[in-house]
Amino acid sequence: MTFHVLTIFPHFVRTIFEWGVLRRAAEADIIRHDVRDLRDYTEDRHRTTDDVPFGGGPGMVMRAEPIFRAVEAIRGETGAPLPLIYLTPGGELLTHPLAVELAQGGDCILLCGRYEGVDQRVIDHLVDREISIGNYVLSGGELAAMVVIDAVARQIPGVVGKPESLEAESFVTGLLDWPHYTRPEVFRDWQVPEVLLSGNHARILAYRQEAALLLTYRRRRELLSDEQRLQAEQILARGRQEGNDASADR
Ligand code: 6GU
Repeated sequence: MTFHVLTIFPHFVRTIFEWGVLRRAAEADIIRHDVRDLRDYTEDRHRTTDDVPFGGGPGMVMRAEPIFRAVEAIRGETGAPLPLIYLTPGGELLTHPLAVELAQGGDCILLCGRYEGVDQRVIDHLVDREISIGNYVLSGGELAAMVVIDAVARQIPGVVGKPESLEAESFVTGLLDWPHYTRPEVFRDWQVPEVLLSGNHARILAYRQEAALLLTYRRRRELLSDEQRLQAEQILARGRQEGNDASADR
C-alpha cells in the first residue's frame, strides 16, 4: 500500500516512516510513501499555499490551486483515481473498523490542512472523505495523517510481526488490554500477581480475561455487551462476598 501525502511540512510527515514497525514495513516494501510538498505545486514567485479569507476574519485559508494540481499530478502519474482523504476535526471519527476499511481500500492520498482550513471548493469537488482523529483541535492535519497512517498500516498483513499481537488488541476483542508484567518478580516491594508465576495456563488465561473485563467495566462500560456487563457485576459481587480485595475499585 502506498500512502501519498500532501503537506507543507513533508520532512515532518516522513519521520513516521523512519522508526519502529513502520520503518521495518517500509524496508520490507509492504508499505510505501510518497510525501509531497504542496509548495512544489504553486506557480507564484513566493510559492504561496495560503491566502486571506473572502468575507474577512482572522487566519488564512489554503488555496485550491496547488491542491488540485498536486492531486491531479499524483492521479496522472499513478494512472489510478486514488481517493483523496482530507484530515479535519470536522470529519468522521477514526475508529478501529475505519482503519481496517482503509487498509483494505488500497492506495490513497492524505491531504493535511493548516491555518483555518482549505478552500471549500477543494472539499466540494476534490475530496472523497473527511477524517478526524478525536474531539480536540490540532494545529494542522500532519499529526492526524501520521496517526491514520500508523493505525491503517498496522492492519496490513505483514506489518506487525506477530499476527497474534493484532488479534489480542483492544477494540478487536472489544475489551481493554489486561495488565502486563516482566522481570523482576518483586520491584520496590511490588510483587507480580502470583497466578502469572504458576505456570498454569488455564488459570493465567482466566485471570487475564477477568482483569480485562473488569478494567473495561470500570473505565469504558459502553464497550461491553449486556451479557459482559452482567458477568462483570457477578465477578465484583462475588469478590465483595469473599472480601476479596483483588477486584476492589482502583
Ligand atoms: Cl484531522 N485535524 C486537525 N487540525 N485537528 C484535529 C484533527 C484533524 N482531528 C482531531 N483534531
